[in-house]
Amino acid sequence: MTNTNLNRRRFLQYTAFGTFAAAIPELAFTESYKLNKTPNSAFKADVEIALTAQMTEVSILPGANTRVLKYTGKLLKGPSGTLKELPSYLGPMLNFEQGQKVRIFFHNQIPEPCVTHWHGMHVPQIMDGHPMYAINQGEQYVYEFEVKNPAGTNWYHSHTHEVTARQVYQGLAGLITITDEIERKLNLPSGEYDIPLIIQDRTFTSRNQLYYALNMHQRMQGFLGDTILANGQRNHVIPVKTRAYRLRILNGSNSRIYKLGWSDGSLLTAIGTDGGLLEKPQTFPYIMLAPAERVELWVDFSDRKPGSELALQTLSYRGFSMRMGGGMDMENNMMNQGSKSTIVKFAITEQIGDSPKLPDTLVPIRRFTAKDASNPDIVVPIAIGMRRMTFNLNGRTFDMLDYTNQEKIPVNTMQIIRISNANPDMGRGMGGGMRGGRGRGMMGMIMAQPHPIHLHGQQFQILSRKPGHADSAYTAIKDGFINNGWKDTVLVMPGEEVEIIKPFMDYTGLFLYHCHNLEHEDMGMMRNFFIS
Ligand code: C2O
Ligand code: CU
Repeated sequence: MTNTNLNRRRFLQYTAFGTFAAAIPELAFTESYKLNKTPNSAFKADVEIALTAQMTEVSILPGANTRVLKYTGKLLKGPSGTLKELPSYLGPMLNFEQGQKVRIFFHNQIPEPCVTHWHGMHVPQIMDGHPMYAINQGEQYVYEFEVKNPAGTNWYHSHTHEVTARQVYQGLAGLITITDEIERKLNLPSGEYDIPLIIQDRTFTSRNQLYYALNMHQRMQGFLGDTILANGQRNHVIPVKTRAYRLRILNGSNSRIYKLGWSDGSLLTAIGTDGGLLEKPQTFPYIMLAPAERVELWVDFSDRKPGSELALQTLSYRGFSMRMGGGMDMENNMMNQGSKSTIVKFAITEQIGDSPKLPDTLVPIRRFTAKDASNPDIVVPIAIGMRRMTFNLNGRTFDMLDYTNQEKIPVNTMQIIRISNANPDMGRGMGGGMRGGRGRGMMGMIMAQPHPIHLHGQQFQILSRKPGHADSAYTAIKDGFINNGWKDTVLVMPGEEVEIIKPFMDYTGLFLYHCHNLEHEDMGMMRNFFIS
């Protein structure tokens, strides 16, 4: 049986009414199991979009076109700026306003199941793109939600059972921006001075096709491409004027973690994180950006000379990736996790007179502490583990509708969640399948991996980070974490323990949490919270 057939069979099993009813009695009596195939006439949409996942070809490298999967969009109703095309295989940028009611007619035209998740958005379960809601080729799913999030940068991507990594890699992703009243008053750079920047790594075959295959080691560390693309383009250069810009950066890579830095060593000025703007601008020598994380930068080219360039780079760091005796990566022409590279260049092309000034303060953020938790004595664990060459969470791998008692969260509560990447088993009891001394070392390398942990639903705040081993590798990256904004994804380094506090308001049902290293997600490093 081919993989596609197998996936399809599993998929059909999950969409069968009986399976849902049997697996979750609570859901059997709600609407929740139903694929939302038709619009709800009671939902008065301000914005309507037709979004189609399709197979197509785009020009990325000189020569032959590249076959990709791509979201294409059409605005049916709403402000004309709602949809903005981005180059290459990227889906259209969706620009929403807080409070808007949005209806998206999602058409699947690719020859396999597909489902779309609105990453970072606070929407009901049935609109959240849980893999149980995947549709087949030729089918339609109607997403309807009110935009509750504050101003910021989110994204959308496929979330299909066991093939998320490949579908996103082949192109199924796009950016979402949200604006609101408070943000508009700040007069941040807008229009052509507000630049989306989606960073992804890919590997191309000699015929310009996307290469995606995983041996066991690549499966364990996630796919790393040898070519960095910015907005779907290689060696991308963005022309800019001598004034300030807002950069909305998304790491849309499957598993590559960037250590962002400016080529001339100047500090980065962050104004926003995953969940929106910061309280005030904050500078960093470099910023770590893990898969699915967003950072918004303020960059002022005012004092730069026309004709000069500034590059955004990923700086080198010890990447916790497996180097099989040094040679292999070279042979495969891999760019390791932590390799230095240029991401995009800004070419200063035009001198202009004036530029907006960086505001001193941005948006108010109510800082939560452990005392704000509904039950400060209960800490919800997310313990990263590994068994039989598969990463797991709390000892379990993904099962479509499954949740445990400790994964049951009362709705309208605030919970403290402790994410630990402690690898208690490292070096012990891991003998199976690995030979000799080098095997033990390699197991250590496999275990000691960073994991970007993402929680669906509302954004959270980081309460604390406890490094496990404060060694030189950790020291070289620790100043690149932004710990005081709203987050939906947090990078948890080997040995590290991160405590977060997260609201679970408004919506009941199954909401995923998982590693956003997409190869890890697909191997089952994902679970459900059942909010009730
Ligand atoms: Cu961006 Cu559950 O994913
Ligand atoms: Cu992971």
